Amino acid sequence: MNIHGKHYRTIWPEIGKNGVINIIDQRQLPHSFIVEQLCTVDDVFKAIREMHVRGAGLIGATAGFGMYIAACKASDDSFMEEMIKAGEHLNSSRPTARNLKWAVDRVLAALNQVESAAAKRKVAFDTACAIADEDADFCKRLGEHGKELIAEISKKKGGKPVNILTHCNAGWLAFVDYGSATAPIYAARDAGIPVHVWVDETRPWNQGAKLTAWELQQEGIDNTLITDNAGGHLMQHGMVDMVIVGTDRTTRAGDVANKIGTYLKALAARDNSIPFYVALPSSTFDWTIDNGYDIPIEMRSGDEITKISGLDPSGAANTVAIAAPGTKAANYSFDITPARLVTELITERGRCKADKMAIAELFPEYAHL
Ligand code: MRU
Repeated sequence: MNIHGKHYRTIWPEIGKNGVINIIDQRQLPHSFIVEQLCTVDDVFKAIREMHVRGAGLIGATAGFGMYIAACKASDDSFMEEMIKAGEHLNSSRPTARNLKWAVDRVLAALNQVESAAAKRKVAFDTACAIADEDADFCKRLGEHGKELIAEISKKKGGKPVNILTHCNAGWLAFVDYGSATAPIYAARDAGIPVHVWVDETRPWNQGAKLTAWELQQEGIDNTLITDNAGGHLMQHGMVDMVIVGTDRTTRAGDVANKIGTYLKALAARDNSIPFYVALPSSTFDWTIDNGYDIPIEMRSGDEITKISGLDPSGAANTVAIAAPGTKAANYSFDITPARLVTELITERGRCKADKMAIAELFPEYAHL
């Protein structure tokens, strides 16, 4: 992704400093672009929990590097005990994104392949880098598969811009590069297909308003910010050709957990015969469950609903109250879109129906789990 014309990934190790990782503090975007260094497992825990980094893929990559930081600190005598403890700690930072546990488990499994603490430290670094590289590569590849869908619609519309609605930020900022929902959009743009994106603001954290609109702007993609409640109206008036969203966890039967409000978009899309696509790298599948209602749904602080942050007229960052003092707020952060409302899943291996058999055909090595 390009920021002011310079290519960035969302996470990278500091060259020449063991156990130091760089991230972009997403709480400050779009008003300030601040690179933050993480040096301890607690730094990593806090960065995930408090959403300096967020989005399923990036949470996974950050957890992978968190395990590398833990390996740099662990003593030779109790190396694996300390690593298991660090993994448990990181796993408890956010409950819904599958990539978190997937990345921690992958580093732990790799550590078990070598003997000495020195070799384990090297393996932890190599595995964290591999997780990040693979995340970027899978997103790029799924973008090519999703591009075909945009190209078909563009052809039907005689080359007029394809209107794509997206929810939350399943973009570059939610991964290491490219994004999931945005990867087909970037690939379509690169292929010269005109696109326009309707960006849901995504209350209460406003990932759409703060991140997706800014990210698309940086890439020169035409986009319009809308309130979360506008999507249905636009669909009824023929102003949306397709919906593409990301996911924090998708069951092996195709039920999709994603940012709160995704389900309502899927319902509106179905009522208006608009295709609803979910883009994901395979690291987001939970191969252990069928039913989406078994996915833990994160509850965040009610303050995210009763208060709002931004720049005041003097240009200073500020938080103001929206609701009356003492207002009770329940902040459900994700919801489940049942597989029956999903037109297709877009993965790095290609597209498939959101059902158990079709998913298993694309990923046969996981079908037995
Ligand atoms: O709470 P967030 O910002 O981490 O939630 C992110 C989303 O819901 C994204 O849509 C999701 O991670 C899918 S794309 C990685």
